[in-house]
Amino acid sequence: MSAGATTLQLLRRLRSVFPDLAQRSKKGENGRIAVVGGSFEFTGAPFYSAISALRVGGDLSHIFCSKFSSPAIKSYSPEIIVHPLFVSEEEARFPQREVEAMTEEWAAKLKGWEKAIHSWIVGPGLGRDRYMQEFLPLLIRNLPDDSVVVFDADGIYYLCHRPELFDELARFRTILTPNHRELAILQKIYRIDVDEILRGADSREEISEISCRHAFPHFKLLIKGPHDIILGRERSFVVRTEGGKKRCGGMGDILAGAASVCALWDFEYGPALASRIVRLATRAAFEKEGRGLTAPCVIRELAQTVKNIESDIY
Ligand SMILES: Nc1ncnc2c1ncn2[C@@H]1O[C@H](COP(=O)(O)OP(=O)(O)OP(=O)(O)O)[C@@H](O)[C@H]1O
Ligand SMILES: [Mg+2]
Repeated sequence: MSAGATTLQLLRRLRSVFPDLAQRSKKGENGRIAVVGGSFEFTGAPFYSAISALRVGGDLSHIFCSKFSSPAIKSYSPEIIVHPLFVSEEEARFPQREVEAMTEEWAAKLKGWEKAIHSWIVGPGLGRDRYMQEFLPLLIRNLPDDSVVVFDADGIYYLCHRPELFDELARFRTILTPNHRELAILQKIYRIDVDEILRGADSREEISEISCRHAFPHFKLLIKGPHDIILGRERSFVVRTEGGKKRCGGMGDILAGAASVCALWDFEYGPALASRIVRLATRAAFEKEGRGLTAPCVIRELAQTVKNIESDIY
């Protein structure tokens, strides 16, 4: 895809999102990330988000997950700090009268970590159950002001289930990263016309800034699809960077991890940078792996992709 003037200017601006690496920087300065996710059924998703956050440049990644899923998640990599925090309904049945006290205890434990974390990713592999439904509002109320908070997957589902929670999101630098199914749930609450938004963008540009200001002030939206659309109060973008041709599970989890770090560095341009990094990494992985491409192939390409962007090769 040719890089028109707009694209070139934007690419330069995206490149400036990366913070300088100083010889004497302290561990954690480039981002301390936490994923709240991982349940009896789903152990891969939180790991993909947490490791991707590190591979695009974050310093420390935590996962707060269900107790049964924790041994599996811990075994994936020594680089992630894994905290068994909650239980899912599949793991243990509790009478409803005990659920309130139990979820409050989880939220209190999580609150103990609030100073250690800059960016939160809520949702990958969380699953949908009664306990999580009770826990999510408490978790959201306990997150500290001004944190970057990325809601993905079932995190978006829980928000839509309790729409009054959307007001809380104004306290944070919040991003929702819906795929097409999650977007359909959101569209029951908000009017979001993707075709209309795309009509406002120059389709010849790899990345373009669009004038669309959306009507939900509490959060940014990163809509994943053939083109990624980022809608914000101040700035909105369409990212058309060519990705790979294989659609496999985990790409959205990788993007959530990348977005949690890039948005911490720069909330306006970071999400677009994250989208571009993941699409370029997917393309590089696809060129090597073809149809056999899986999420770890993309994760392996993240670091080199970031290096290439920084060196102006991409
Ligand atoms: N049809 C498509 N063509 C090209 N790229 C796409 C397409 N659909 C999604 N992508 C890209 O793949 C990445 C992940 O999007 P996807 O819709 O697969 O997320 P997801 O369904 O949440 O994934 P996950 O399996 O991790 O839950 C995004 O960066 C997006 O740009
Ligand atoms: Mg997803």
